[in-house]
Amino acid sequence: MLSAFAHDLLQALSTRPHRISPKYFYDAEGSRLFDEICTLPEYYPTRTELAILERSAGEMATLAGPGAEIVEFGAGSLRKVRLLLQAFEAPARYLPIDISGEHLRDAAAVLRREFAGLDVQPLVADYTQQLELPPTGGGGKRIGFFPGSTIGNFTPAEAESFLRRTAQVLRGGALVLGADLVKDPAVLHAAYNDAQGVTAAFNLNLLARANRELGASFVLPQFAHYAFYNPPEQRIEMHLVSRQRQSVALCGEKFTLAEGESLHTENSYKFTVDGLRELALRAGFRPGPVWTDPERLFSVHWLHAPEEKSA
Ligand code: AVI
Repeated sequence: MLSAFAHDLLQALSTRPHRISPKYFYDAEGSRLFDEICTLPEYYPTRTELAILERSAGEMATLAGPGAEIVEFGAGSLRKVRLLLQAFEAPARYLPIDISGEHLRDAAAVLRREFAGLDVQPLVADYTQQLELPPTGGGGKRIGFFPGSTIGNFTPAEAESFLRRTAQVLRGGALVLGADLVKDPAVLHAAYNDAQGVTAAFNLNLLARANRELGASFVLPQFAHYAFYNPPEQRIEMHLVSRQRQSVALCGEKFTLAEGESLHTENSYKFTVDGLRELALRAGFRPGPVWTDPERLFSVHWLHAPEEKSA
Protein backbone atom coordinates (compact mmCIF):
# COMPACT_ATOMS: atom_id res chain seq x y z
CA MET A 1 0.00 0.00 0.00
CA LEU A 2 1.19 3.52 -0.80
CA SER A 3 2.03 5.80 2.11
CA ALA A 4 0.03 9.05 2.38
CA PHE A 5 3.20 10.94 1.35
CA ALA A 6 3.68 8.77 -1.78
CA HIS A 7 0.00 9.08 -2.66
CA ASP A 8 -0.05 12.88 -2.24
CA LEU A 9 3.25 13.44 -4.07
CA LEU A 10 2.12 11.28 -7.02
CA GLN A 11 -1.08 13.31 -7.08
CA ALA A 12 0.86 16.59 -6.89
CA LEU A 13 3.10 15.64 -9.82
CA SER A 14 0.17 14.38 -11.91
CA THR A 15 -1.86 17.61 -11.70
CA ARG A 16 -1.10 21.23 -12.58
CA PRO A 17 -0.32 23.50 -10.82
CA HIS A 18 1.72 21.05 -8.74
CA ARG A 19 0.74 21.43 -5.07
CA ILE A 20 1.44 19.42 -1.90
CA SER A 21 0.54 19.88 1.79
CA PRO A 22 3.23 21.47 4.01
CA LYS A 23 2.63 18.70 6.57
CA TYR A 24 5.18 16.60 4.64
CA PHE A 25 8.01 18.96 5.64
CA TYR A 26 8.12 17.47 9.11
CA ASP A 27 10.15 14.27 9.13
CA ALA A 28 12.99 14.21 11.73
CA GLU A 29 15.27 16.33 9.51
CA GLY A 30 12.47 18.77 8.63
CA SER A 31 11.56 19.20 12.31
CA ARG A 32 15.23 19.84 13.12
CA LEU A 33 15.44 22.45 10.34
CA PHE A 34 12.21 24.09 11.55
CA ASP A 35 13.65 24.37 15.08
CA GLU A 36 16.68 26.06 13.51
CA ILE A 37 14.43 28.47 11.57
CA CYS A 38 12.85 29.50 14.88
CA THR A 39 16.23 30.79 16.10
CA LEU A 40 17.09 32.81 12.96
CA PRO A 41 17.38 36.59 13.26
CA GLU A 42 15.00 37.09 10.30
CA TYR A 43 12.33 34.71 11.63
CA TYR A 44 10.64 37.01 14.16
CA PRO A 45 7.45 34.95 14.95
CA THR A 46 8.91 32.57 17.55
CA ARG A 47 10.76 35.07 19.73
CA THR A 48 7.97 37.63 19.38
CA GLU A 49 5.28 35.17 20.45
CA LEU A 50 7.42 33.97 23.36
CA ALA A 51 7.82 37.58 24.56
CA ILE A 52 4.06 38.15 24.29
CA LEU A 53 3.35 34.97 26.26
CA GLU A 54 5.90 35.91 28.90
CA ARG A 55 4.27 39.31 29.35
CA SER A 56 0.65 38.12 29.23
CA ALA A 57 0.66 34.68 30.89
CA GLY A 58 -0.45 36.24 34.20
CA GLU A 59 -3.54 37.79 32.58
CA MET A 60 -4.27 34.52 30.84
CA ALA A 61 -4.00 32.69 34.16
CA THR A 62 -6.64 34.99 35.63
CA LEU A 63 -8.95 34.32 32.68
CA ALA A 64 -8.38 30.56 32.95
CA GLY A 65 -8.96 30.34 36.70
CA PRO A 66 -7.69 27.60 39.04
CA GLY A 67 -7.42 23.93 38.08
CA ALA A 68 -7.58 24.50 34.31
CA GLU A 69 -6.44 21.92 31.81
CA ILE A 70 -4.42 22.82 28.73
CA VAL A 71 -5.07 21.03 25.43
CA GLU A 72 -2.25 21.75 23.00
CA PHE A 73 -2.86 21.17 19.30
CA GLY A 74 0.52 19.81 18.13
CA ALA A 75 3.32 19.01 20.58
CA GLY A 76 5.42 21.97 19.58
CA SER A 77 7.91 23.92 21.57
CA LEU A 78 7.82 23.14 25.28
CA ARG A 79 9.08 26.67 25.94
CA LYS A 80 5.69 28.14 25.04
CA VAL A 81 3.36 25.87 27.02
CA ARG A 82 5.73 25.97 29.98
CA LEU A 83 5.01 29.71 30.30
CA LEU A 84 1.28 28.96 30.65
CA LEU A 85 1.79 26.02 33.00
CA GLN A 86 4.01 28.12 35.25
CA ALA A 87 1.55 31.03 35.35
CA PHE A 88 -1.70 29.07 35.75
CA GLU A 89 -2.98 28.37 39.28
CA ALA A 90 -2.65 24.63 39.97
CA PRO A 91 -3.16 23.45 36.36
CA ALA A 92 -4.86 20.05 36.57
CA ARG A 93 -3.91 18.41 33.30
CA TYR A 94 -1.86 18.87 30.13
CA LEU A 95 -3.17 17.11 27.04
CA PRO A 96 -0.87 17.50 24.03
CA ILE A 97 -2.21 16.14 20.73
CA ASP A 98 0.15 15.19 17.92
CA ILE A 99 0.45 12.60 15.15
CA SER A 100 4.03 11.87 16.16
CA GLY A 101 3.98 9.61 19.22
CA GLU A 102 7.72 10.03 19.67
CA HIS A 103 7.46 13.82 19.93
CA LEU A 104 4.67 13.41 22.47
CA ARG A 105 6.46 10.89 24.65
CA ASP A 106 9.51 13.16 24.96
CA ALA A 107 7.44 16.24 25.80
CA ALA A 108 5.35 14.33 28.34
CA ALA A 109 8.40 12.95 30.14
CA VAL A 110 10.00 16.39 30.48
CA LEU A 111 6.83 18.06 31.81
CA ARG A 112 6.00 15.26 34.26
CA ARG A 113 9.44 15.76 35.78
CA GLU A 114 9.08 19.55 35.88
CA PHE A 115 5.53 19.88 37.19
CA ALA A 116 4.94 17.51 40.06
CA GLY A 117 1.25 16.76 40.38
CA LEU A 118 0.43 17.68 36.79
CA ASP A 119 -1.49 14.96 34.99
CA VAL A 120 0.12 14.71 31.53
CA GLN A 121 -2.03 12.76 29.08
CA PRO A 122 -0.63 12.75 25.54
CA LEU A 123 -3.00 11.86 22.73
CA VAL A 124 -1.68 10.44 19.45
CA ALA A 125 -4.16 11.84 16.92
CA ASP A 126 -4.49 14.13 13.92
CA TYR A 127 -5.89 17.35 15.36
CA THR A 128 -7.01 18.51 11.92
CA GLN A 129 -9.68 15.79 12.10
CA GLN A 130 -12.68 15.39 14.42
CA LEU A 131 -11.35 14.81 17.97
CA GLU A 132 -12.72 12.81 20.88
CA LEU A 133 -11.21 14.15 24.13
CA PRO A 134 -11.45 12.46 27.53
CA PRO A 135 -13.93 14.21 29.86
CA THR A 136 -12.47 17.03 31.97
CA GLY A 137 -11.32 15.71 35.32
CA GLY A 138 -12.01 18.42 37.90
CA GLY A 139 -14.02 21.61 37.89
CA GLY A 140 -11.45 23.69 35.98
CA LYS A 141 -11.82 25.11 32.49
CA ARG A 142 -10.47 23.46 29.36
CA ILE A 143 -8.08 25.85 27.61
CA GLY A 144 -6.89 25.06 24.07
CA PHE A 145 -3.45 26.24 22.98
CA PHE A 146 -2.51 26.62 19.32
CA PRO A 147 0.61 28.81 19.09
CA GLY A 148 3.11 29.55 16.31
CA SER A 149 0.60 30.74 13.70
CA THR A 150 0.24 27.18 12.46
CA ILE A 151 -3.34 28.28 11.71
CA GLY A 152 -1.73 30.24 8.84
CA ASN A 153 -0.64 27.02 7.14
CA PHE A 154 -4.26 25.97 6.67
CA THR A 155 -6.38 27.15 3.74
CA PRO A 156 -8.99 29.72 4.88
CA ALA A 157 -11.67 27.00 4.67
CA GLU A 158 -9.54 24.56 6.71
CA ALA A 159 -8.82 27.27 9.30
CA GLU A 160 -12.52 27.96 9.73
CA SER A 161 -13.49 24.31 10.04
CA PHE A 162 -10.61 23.64 12.47
CA LEU A 163 -11.81 26.53 14.64
CA ARG A 164 -15.43 25.39 14.40
CA ARG A 165 -14.53 21.88 15.64
CA THR A 166 -12.22 23.33 18.30
CA ALA A 167 -14.93 25.63 19.65
CA GLN A 168 -17.09 22.56 20.30
CA VAL A 169 -14.30 20.52 21.90
CA LEU A 170 -13.46 23.46 24.23
CA ARG A 171 -17.05 24.27 25.29
CA GLY A 172 -17.06 26.18 28.57
CA GLY A 173 -13.39 27.12 28.14
CA ALA A 174 -11.28 29.10 25.67
CA LEU A 175 -8.61 28.94 22.98
CA VAL A 176 -5.25 30.73 23.14
CA LEU A 177 -4.35 31.24 19.50
CA GLY A 178 -1.11 32.66 18.05
CA ALA A 179 -1.48 34.40 14.69
CA ASP A 180 1.14 36.17 12.60
CA LEU A 181 0.13 39.65 11.42
CA VAL A 182 0.23 41.36 8.02
CA LYS A 183 3.12 43.81 7.90
CA ASP A 184 5.79 45.36 5.68
CA PRO A 185 6.29 42.80 2.90
CA ALA A 186 10.07 43.27 3.16
CA VAL A 187 10.00 41.95 6.74
CA LEU A 188 7.89 38.97 5.66
CA HIS A 189 10.12 38.32 2.66
CA ALA A 190 13.26 38.26 4.80
CA ALA A 191 11.66 35.84 7.30
CA TYR A 192 11.22 33.24 4.54
CA ASN A 193 14.46 34.01 2.67
CA ASP A 194 17.03 33.95 5.45
CA ALA A 195 20.65 34.72 4.70
CA GLN A 196 21.90 31.36 5.97
CA GLY A 197 19.61 29.41 3.64
CA VAL A 198 17.95 27.38 6.41
CA THR A 199 14.44 28.01 5.04
CA ALA A 200 15.68 26.96 1.59
CA ALA A 201 17.06 23.72 3.09
CA PHE A 202 13.74 23.19 4.93
CA ASN A 203 11.80 23.57 1.67
CA LEU A 204 14.20 21.35 -0.31
CA ASN A 205 14.06 18.71 2.43
CA LEU A 206 10.65 17.75 1.07
CA LEU A 207 12.40 16.42 -2.06
CA ALA A 208 15.25 14.91 -0.03
CA ARG A 209 12.63 13.14 2.10
CA ALA A 210 10.96 11.77 -1.06
CA ASN A 211 14.35 10.42 -2.18
CA ARG A 212 15.01 8.85 1.25
CA GLU A 213 11.57 7.41 1.94
CA LEU A 214 10.12 6.75 -1.48
CA GLY A 215 13.26 6.14 -3.58
CA ALA A 216 12.41 9.17 -5.76
CA SER A 217 15.10 10.62 -8.04
CA PHE A 218 14.94 14.37 -7.32
CA VAL A 219 18.29 16.10 -7.97
CA LEU A 220 18.19 18.83 -5.35
CA PRO A 221 20.56 21.38 -6.99
CA GLN A 222 18.16 21.40 -9.95
CA PHE A 223 15.46 23.04 -7.80
CA ALA A 224 15.35 26.57 -6.42
CA HIS A 225 13.69 27.65 -3.17
CA TYR A 226 11.31 30.49 -4.03
CA ALA A 227 9.31 32.30 -1.32
CA PHE A 228 7.40 35.55 -1.78
CA TYR A 229 4.60 37.55 -0.21
CA ASN A 230 1.32 37.63 -2.13
CA PRO A 231 -0.48 40.77 -0.83
CA PRO A 232 -3.99 40.15 -2.24
CA GLU A 233 -3.99 36.70 -0.65
CA GLN A 234 -2.22 37.93 2.52
CA ARG A 235 0.12 34.98 2.43
CA ILE A 236 3.70 33.90 1.96
CA GLU A 237 3.92 31.26 -0.75
CA MET A 238 6.78 28.78 -0.85
CA HIS A 239 7.64 26.96 -4.06
CA LEU A 240 10.32 24.66 -5.40
CA VAL A 241 11.07 25.80 -8.95
CA SER A 242 12.61 23.54 -11.55
CA ARG A 243 15.81 25.18 -12.82
CA GLN A 244 15.66 23.19 -16.07
CA ARG A 245 13.54 20.74 -18.00
CA GLN A 246 13.96 17.46 -16.15
CA SER A 247 12.40 14.09 -15.44
CA VAL A 248 11.78 12.59 -12.03
CA ALA A 249 11.05 8.96 -11.19
CA LEU A 250 8.65 8.20 -8.34
CA CYS A 251 7.06 4.86 -7.45
CA GLY A 252 7.68 3.43 -10.94
CA GLU A 253 6.25 6.46 -12.73
CA LYS A 254 8.10 9.18 -14.64
CA PHE A 255 7.17 12.86 -14.47
CA THR A 256 8.55 15.71 -16.57
CA LEU A 257 8.94 19.19 -15.15
CA ALA A 258 9.40 22.11 -17.54
CA GLU A 259 12.06 24.74 -16.94
CA GLY A 260 10.53 27.24 -14.47
CA GLU A 261 7.69 24.96 -13.41
CA SER A 262 7.00 24.90 -9.69
CA LEU A 263 5.85 22.61 -6.91
CA HIS A 264 3.87 24.78 -4.46
CA THR A 265 4.83 23.50 -1.01
CA GLU A 266 3.38 25.95 1.53
CA ASN A 267 1.11 28.90 2.16
CA SER A 268 1.62 30.88 5.35
CA TYR A 269 -1.34 33.22 5.77
CA LYS A 270 -0.95 36.46 7.70
CA PHE A 271 -3.86 38.07 9.53
CA THR A 272 -5.12 41.42 10.72
CA VAL A 273 -6.30 41.43 14.34
CA ASP A 274 -9.84 42.24 13.22
CA GLY A 275 -9.78 39.65 10.44
CA LEU A 276 -8.75 36.92 12.89
CA ARG A 277 -11.46 37.95 15.37
CA GLU A 278 -14.09 37.86 12.61
CA LEU A 279 -12.91 34.41 11.56
CA ALA A 280 -13.13 33.19 15.18
CA LEU A 281 -16.60 34.67 15.55
CA ARG A 282 -17.81 32.88 12.40
CA ALA A 283 -16.46 29.64 13.87
CA GLY A 284 -18.46 30.04 17.10
CA PHE A 285 -15.97 31.72 19.45
CA ARG A 286 -16.51 35.01 21.29
CA PRO A 287 -13.28 36.99 20.82
CA GLY A 288 -11.70 38.19 24.07
CA PRO A 289 -8.45 40.06 24.81
CA VAL A 290 -5.67 40.26 22.19
CA TRP A 291 -2.02 40.75 23.03
CA THR A 292 0.55 42.00 20.53
CA ASP A 293 4.17 43.20 20.66
CA PRO A 294 5.00 46.93 20.40
CA GLU A 295 5.84 46.57 16.68
CA ARG A 296 2.59 44.67 16.03
CA LEU A 297 4.43 41.82 14.36
CA PHE A 298 2.48 38.99 16.02
CA SER A 299 -0.77 38.50 17.95
CA VAL A 300 -2.03 36.15 20.63
CA HIS A 301 -5.82 35.88 21.01
CA TRP A 302 -8.01 34.75 23.85
CA LEU A 303 -11.12 33.27 22.25
CA HIS A 304 -14.02 32.25 24.50
CA ALA A 305 -15.59 28.94 23.49
CA PRO A 306 -19.38 28.58 23.62
CA GLU A 307 -20.98 27.80 26.99
CA GLU A 308 -21.29 24.20 28.03
CA LYS A 309 -24.50 22.52 26.83
CA SER A 310 -26.91 22.30 29.76
CA ALA A 311 -28.01 18.77 30.57
C1 AVI B 1 4.91 26.20 11.18
N1 AVI B 1 4.60 27.41 10.40
C2 AVI B 1 3.76 28.33 11.18
C3 AVI B 1 5.77 28.06 9.80
C4 AVI B 1 5.35 29.34 9.03
O1 AVI B 1 5.96 30.37 9.26
O2 AVI B 1 4.40 29.27 8.26
C5 AVI B 1 6.50 27.13 8.85
C6 AVI B 1 7.62 27.80 8.09
N2 AVI B 1 7.79 27.78 6.81
C7 AVI B 1 8.87 28.46 6.49
N3 AVI B 1 9.40 28.93 7.57
C8 AVI B 1 8.65 28.52 8.62
